[in-house]
Amino acid sequence: MNRTVELNIDGKPVELPTVVGSEGEVGIDIATLRNKTGCITLDPGYGNTGACKSAITFIDGEQGILRYRGYDIAELAEKSTFIETAYLLIYGELPTRPELAAFSDLLTENQMLHEDMRHLFDGFPPTAHPMAILSAMINAASSYHPNIISKREERFPWHAARLISQVRTIAAYSYRKAHGLPTIYPKTTLKYTANFLHMMFSHPGEDCDLKPEVVKALDLIFLLHADHEQNCSTSTVRMVASSRANLFASASAGVCALWGPLHGGANQAVLEMLEEIHADGDDGTKFLNQVKNKTTNRRLMGFGHRVYKNFDPRAVIIKQQCDKVLSQLHKSDPLLDIAKKLEEIALHDDYFIARKLYPNVDFYSGIIMRAIGIPMDMFTVMFAIGRMPGWIANYKEVMEDTDSRICRPRQIYTGSTLRSYTPMESR
Ligand code: CMC
Repeated sequence: MNRTVELNIDGKPVELPTVVGSEGEVGIDIATLRNKTGCITLDPGYGNTGACKSAITFIDGEQGILRYRGYDIAELAEKSTFIETAYLLIYGELPTRPELAAFSDLLTENQMLHEDMRHLFDGFPPTAHPMAILSAMINAASSYHPNIISKREERFPWHAARLISQVRTIAAYSYRKAHGLPTIYPKTTLKYTANFLHMMFSHPGEDCDLKPEVVKALDLIFLLHADHEQNCSTSTVRMVASSRANLFASASAGVCALWGPLHGGANQAVLEMLEEIHADGDDGTKFLNQVKNKTTNRRLMGFGHRVYKNFDPRAVIIKQQCDKVLSQLHKSDPLLDIAKKLEEIALHDDYFIARKLYPNVDFYSGIIMRAIGIPMDMFTVMFAIGRMPGWIANYKEVMEDTDSRICRPRQIYTGSTLRSYTPMESR
């Protein structure tokens, strides 16, 4: 049954249709609101605004549910791999064996950067943040393959594979450059995540030891980050895509949005916070008091989420993985002890309970990455590698939506009303 909703504006009733999602979520369709009433809606931060219909990822924040294409994240984390999940997100179904093999071959075929691109890395200072390099290089990659711009629909599978594969090569090259190390080319015999670790940590003539537990842990981190419906960076990708910009330009914009400490940059910010608490000799109590008193404008990084108001299912899996990897590698980390203490205090504290603040995916992921040797300024880059399939799936959805229009929100203007130009001598 089609439900409608009645608004009453200045005594005049306005009937608006509703849209019901496959999990029962109801949206009020306000597409005709301005025409009918002259009014618009105002929702800063978009907490109550559905920007699109999407069939990719489902989140129920109250119940802590996250599903990619209908599959529960915990089941995928246990049984799938990042690359299989990437295929699922982009093409909608789990691949058959031949489909997965063809997808993997396409990734391998496209893993090398154009050789001239290596010189572009020389233009960055050693202090450049790898997220700045990543965003610039993804955009630059499109200029080496003009058909990314001109033939984007017909060659989509090829472009998508190129982007997933090359984001990892760019990330590794930027690390090698920042540390004055020679570039290590990808190998055709290695799978996606192992190949990334090889490009990061091998040396010419001496391949690094690819520990299966390390490869598995990083692959899981990529998988858990692979999509998260209409977050800030994915919304950015969709917005840029709505202008019909190419896939690489849209993804490059997504990287910039992800960089911020309230979004993907939180994984780096968590480690910085834990290091600061540790250096201060604090067990977390003093820091949490500062957060709660709001005297220092500090937040407990890695806590809270716009959508999850019960628990973040990714954080539960990451925490278990963190304990597992540290024990497999026979490592202990005082920062893990501080993180656990902060979590324990916060989960029983009225400030955090009242605001429904729980650990999010970033709270423990940095500790795993630190244990496997990923430097702190590369943490958000790991998030970007993981999120690439989600951005690509969302880009594809925008391009295939025949009703899609350029995103162009409105505003409520609060500036000066009409006034006359004041000559310089009278100002
Ligand atoms: N520590 C302390 N207080 C917090 C925190 C936090 N991490 N997060 C929210 N609050 C408080 C906030 O001060 C406000 O309090 P009050 O009502 O007294 O003014 C209340 O909770 C609501 O906060 P909000 O800023 O309106 O919430 P939001 O939905 O706009 O923000 C968030 C969501 C994730 C940006 C925020 O929780 C935050 O800044 N967390 C820390 C950064 C972080 O970990 N980000 C990663 C998010 S998960 C990965 C991803 O998808 O990007």
